[in-house]
Amino acid sequence: MDSLVSVTEEARRRLGEARSVAVLTGAGISADSGVPTFRGPEGLWRSFRPEELATPEAFLRDPNLVWEWYDWRRGKVAACRPNPAHDAIVRLESRVPRFSLLTQNVDGLHREAGSQNVIELHGNIWKVRCTNCHEVGDNRDVPIQVPPHCETCGGLLRPHIVWFGESLDPDDIRAAFEAAESCEVFLVVGTSGIVQPAASFVSTAKRAGAFVIEANLDPTPNTWIVDVHLSGRAAEVLPSLID
Ligand code: OAD
Repeated sequence: MDSLVSVTEEARRRLGEARSVAVLTGAGISADSGVPTFRGPEGLWRSFRPEELATPEAFLRDPNLVWEWYDWRRGKVAACRPNPAHDAIVRLESRVPRFSLLTQNVDGLHREAGSQNVIELHGNIWKVRCTNCHEVGDNRDVPIQVPPHCETCGGLLRPHIVWFGESLDPDDIRAAFEAAESCEVFLVVGTSGIVQPAASFVSTAKRAGAFVIEANLDPTPNTWIVDVHLSGRAAEVLPSLID
């Protein structure tokens, strides 16, 4: 117990003193808002096959099916609000001179909470992209017309999400690696740490000398390389770590 208290204190102190912080989040941070995660007993990938719904091939084969799935997910996210973990990250950003938030989440809850310097590595479920003219736009319709079409050119719209087999935006990757390499403290929250390249930001930060803190319900492949693993729900662990 004593050692648990002292590692938590050490994590708090490091975070309190750091002048540059990078945070990486995954589906676990939004779980406390009611957004389903991907893996684990109730994760989306237990009931759905990613190759049928989250690949460019799946979209080419059956855009309506893919859009119906995204429409269902958009409906779920629309009913969710940021939780105390999202709010704690906003407060952290407000007091740290150099701050970056790297999220794999597409739900937009970090921005809704008030986070400013956010890189949405996997896109955003409220954005659409034209498969013809490539214009990206906002669309918050719930339900969305299936399939939706571009107001500019009439082309088929797709979710502005990075699917399996697709590359992340190179500018986002560059900025994310820069943040991981240059921060004093790297905080990783609610990600299973198995999807690349986000998973490798943790080891990058560690190699570059950052103090790395992981907050997760369960151990992950990152747990053995981090300095402190805080076990618990993000909505409870983060406010107590940050405030
Ligand atoms: P996962 O569903 O793989 O992992 C969620 C992690 O959060 C697990 O390690 C859980 O133990 C943890 N967790 C669950 N509830 C939590 C809570 N209340 N507090 C803290 N931790 C909790 O989600 P990601 O790691 O985000 O990509 O998945 C990465 C990517 O894989 C996603 O962005 C998505 C998916 O396929 C795309 O769709 C491109």
